[in-house]
Amino acid sequence: MSLVECVKRWRLQLIVILFIISSTRAEEYRILTTWDNRTIDHLDRPVVIRLERHDESAFKISVDAPFFNDPPNPNGTVGEPFFTLWDYEVVEVFFLNDKNQYVEIELCPWGQHIVLLLDGQRNTIRHSLFIEFTATRNDTHWQGVAMIPVHFLPPNVGKMNAYAIHGSDPKRVYESLYPVAFNSTAAADFHNLAAFKPFNASIIVENAIDAYSDVWLDSFTGIRRLEIKHTWNGTLLDPQDAVELQLETKSGYGLFIKINAPRYGDALPPSPSGWPFDGLSSYEVIHLFLLVENDTKTLELQFGPTGHYAVIFWTNRTKLGDLQREITYKTNGFNSMFWEGEAFIPLAYLPARVYKCNAHSAHGPQGNQRQINSLYPAKSNEVRPDFQNYGNYKAIDMTMIYPGNDDVTCSDVWADNVDCRPEPPPASAAGHAPIGHYALLSLTAFISTFIMVA
Ligand SMILES: *[C@@H]1O[C@H](CO)[C@@H](O)[C@H](O)[C@H]1NC(C)=O
Ligand SMILES: *[C@@H]1O[C@H](CO)[C@@H](O)[C@H](O)[C@H]1NC(C)=O
Ligand SMILES: *[C@@H]1O[C@H](CO)[C@@H](O)[C@H](O)[C@H]1NC(C)=O
Ligand SMILES: *[C@@H]1O[C@H](CO)[C@@H](O)[C@H](O)[C@H]1NC(C)=O
Ligand SMILES: *[C@@H]1O[C@H](CO)[C@@H](O)[C@H](O)[C@H]1NC(C)=O
Ligand SMILES: *[C@@H]1O[C@H](CO)[C@@H](O)[C@H](O)[C@H]1NC(C)=O
Ligand SMILES: *[C@@H]1O[C@H](CO)[C@@H](O)[C@H](O)[C@H]1NC(C)=O
Ligand SMILES: *[C@@H]1O[C@H](CO)[C@@H](O)[C@H](O)[C@H]1NC(C)=O
Repeated sequence: MSLVECVKRWRLQLIVILFIISSTRAEEYRILTTWDNRTIDHLDRPVVIRLERHDESAFKISVDAPFFNDPPNPNGTVGEPFFTLWDYEVVEVFFLNDKNQYVEIELCPWGQHIVLLLDGQRNTIRHSLFIEFTATRNDTHWQGVAMIPVHFLPPNVGKMNAYAIHGSDPKRVYESLYPVAFNSTAAADFHNLAAFKPFNASIIVENAIDAYSDVWLDSFTGIRRLEIKHTWNGTLLDPQDAVELQLETKSGYGLFIKINAPRYGDALPPSPSGWPFDGLSSYEVIHLFLLVENDTKTLELQFGPTGHYAVIFWTNRTKLGDLQREITYKTNGFNSMFWEGEAFIPLAYLPARVYKCNAHSAHGPQGNQRQINSLYPAKSNEVRPDFQNYGNYKAIDMTMIYPGNDDVTCSDVWADNVDCRPEPPPASAAGHAPIGHYALLSLTAFISTFIMVA
């Protein structure tokens, strides 16, 4: 190699190195103290958290940490949200703005995570948001990489704190990047926002965020958006084939579901519009399944483009008979390429503790030619769609839009189970008594209001 060539090559390498340095802005944080400012007992291998920008829409959190394997694996699905992850071994990062709004990101060495949005100290308005997260372990260390969408950050984010927890009571250890003064408070409190310290947000975002993202706005108003945009086995659909579902409760009255979907012009069901129709699943239809925690109870709602619907109560693959199954449902899908629907579901129809969901759209003839699309598609080893495969369901935080969701005694329909034919609510009834058909009809005015304001 000639001297000139050698210099040229060297210059090229230098330029590459300079480019890498200038485009990577990362910051490393080491958690060296307990929550109350005592020195940790594994100072030789502290938890290290690295923050950096990934691209316009996401930033990266990398964790390099000792692995205590205590408490054990929470055993939730790897890569998915796990509620109550804070009771396990976990590393957490919080990003705060000047209005006490913050995002809390918890990462577990076993691959589960939980991401929460809070509006004011400890006031959770959203949980179980989805992120990409992978973790690997050996006997003594674990490493994790999480991609966090920048739209999870509140506007004007400017402070942060980070934490790590391991061990089981009475030897549970709480560690903080920015601790409180020794002996200043009685117990660890990760929501002590006064302990947070400023950081330069340009480490994680390219463009300063000065407005609420849609995720924050939806969380304030209690809206959950679901989009069916893959075939049942995971191929991305053309945008015009996608279906949007919007779930919302208004003051605890019921679950409102708005649908936005393409119309394929399949034949109409042979029954009047606006009433339940048992065979709807063979027609042009949208299915929404709401699944209960630790259980196999699902509420299935089927919506057709022309006002036909079906409400099915399941445990496992068994339909529960003879339950009240009328809802209020209106559509405009008779003559258009796209249609919209609005449904009102009494809260009493929801089984208690709904925590996962899936949804599908289907049209075309029965058999191989039927087109079936899914919100959360099947894994690659499945040969045909199976709507009762709970492994394909993913988290939905109903609790934040319907506080009664956590009350196991709340759902009257499910409490009495199979033979429950709900009576009209007594005048004194509190909570979520089932609603008879006439009461439902009288709610139509209420729904019209919903349509106008939405
Ligand atoms: C998760 O499963 C493992 C293996 O069965 C078990 O040892 C562990 O205790 C379980 N974790 C919890 C939190 O139950
Ligand atoms: C476990 O991983 C850590 C960090 O990557 C490494 O330093 C250590 O040597 C590994 N231990 C074993 C037993 O492989
Ligand atoms: C924690 O202790 C260090 C010295 O040990 C001290 O400099 C620091 O101010 C203390 N932090 C708090 C919040 O008290
Ligand atoms: C910590 O606070 C308790 C009472 O709040 C007090 O009795 C104790 O002496 C304090 N310890 C130290 C080391 O300051
Ligand atoms: C934050 O970092 C950016 C980019 O390095 C720099 O331009 C800006 O001055 C920093 N802001 C503060 C408040 O330090
Ligand atoms: C997905 O399912 C369809 C049938 O619905 C099949 O033709 C196709 O090969 C499947 N694709 C994959 C990637 O498995
Ligand atoms: C589900 O299991 C968890 C952990 O065992 C328990 O805390 C929770 O109460 C259970 N939920 C229901 C609805 O039984
Ligand atoms: C549902 O299926 C699960 C797993 O197959 C089983 O453990 C459970 O007992 C079933 N529940 C009912 C009510 O059949």
